[in-house]
Amino acid sequence: MTRGFGVCLAFSVLLALSASPCESRRHGHTEKQHALSCRPDNEGSWSIGVYRGEGFTSLLPVEEAKPRLDGRAAWPVANPVVSCASVVGAPSNFVADPFLFANNDTIYIFHETKNGITGQGDIGVAASHDEGITWQHLGIALDEPWHLSYPFIFSWQDQVYMLPEASGSGGLRLYRAEDFPLVWKLDRLLLDKPLIDASLLEDHGTWWLFGSDHTRPGAHKNGELELYYSASPQGPWQPHPANPIANTARRRSARMGGRPLHYEGGIYRFAQDCTGTYGQGLEMMQITTLNQTHYQEEPRDLGFDPAPRRSVPFTS
Ligand SMILES: *[C@@H]1O[C@H](CO)[C@@H](O)[C@H](O)[C@H]1NC(C)=O
Ligand SMILES: *[C@@H]1O[C@H](CO)[C@@H](O)[C@H](O)[C@H]1NC(C)=O
Repeated sequence: MTRGFGVCLAFSVLLALSASPCESRRHGHTEKQHALSCRPDNEGSWSIGVYRGEGFTSLLPVEEAKPRLDGRAAWPVANPVVSCASVVGAPSNFVADPFLFANNDTIYIFHETKNGITGQGDIGVAASHDEGITWQHLGIALDEPWHLSYPFIFSWQDQVYMLPEASGSGGLRLYRAEDFPLVWKLDRLLLDKPLIDASLLEDHGTWWLFGSDHTRPGAHKNGELELYYSASPQGPWQPHPANPIANTARRRSARMGGRPLHYEGGIYRFAQDCTGTYGQGLEMMQITTLNQTHYQEEPRDLGFDPAPRRSVPFTS
């Protein structure tokens, strides 16, 4: 189980975070699904909120971002925008690991939903047609015999791809949208290695892949991070000579917590702070050296408080 987040820079900065506790709002379900959704779960109850702003330092939760409320927007608008009660297509105990993806005039949140019947993570998707203010759940995009989460989504050469956490399958699997956003096909096995929370970054024509392998001998759970590079997101992927680029009992800034990005001339990646409880916080690292022989990063202030009035755990 992991928590991720997505950042979309299409019109400003839009950030989706998952947080606990889940506020139960029920709509759009059959009675049967109601009975099976939002049940207590020993992994916690997580939900997804959206933050808006012109940049990282001005991000505000959607209810404080003074959204333009026209005929398309419901009232009131407040976080969480997607919860276990929103999910269509399968009962959900919680939703987490949101990744934003803008496509034409629609913004999508792909996310983990923990299926209340199978106890496994599936990938769900919600859509917004009003720049991230109101969201409608569309259904389950991907369900496999193993746990899925952290649906890292990106477009490349006119196709949309998804790289979910699928370590239960033993490998890292890349999916391609056959009928976006709900039908996906396996494109290929990217790595024969159970890499978790795999996240891609393109920089000057080189693709970089970050992810953690808890099965690596000597790996600290939630404290290990590996880096790979390739000329294409389809691989083949070369391990970076500095691997593992992190392996520490400190667990503060290793495991990926969302989409790495270019922002105001710098490259940043986000990490899950697991120093206390799982999902305690989110760290931002600026990548200061990135090439095929060297890697360096420095912690930076996130510039906003992802959980302003909350004292509960959150991630991403
Ligand atoms: C986005 O719009 C373009 C042009 O209208 C269309 O060709 C394309 O299929 C749309 N993309 C998706 C994934 O719906
Ligand atoms: C990578 O960066 C390091 C530090 O800046 C530099 O010394 C090294 O020559 C670079 N290597 C390549 C392959 O560019």
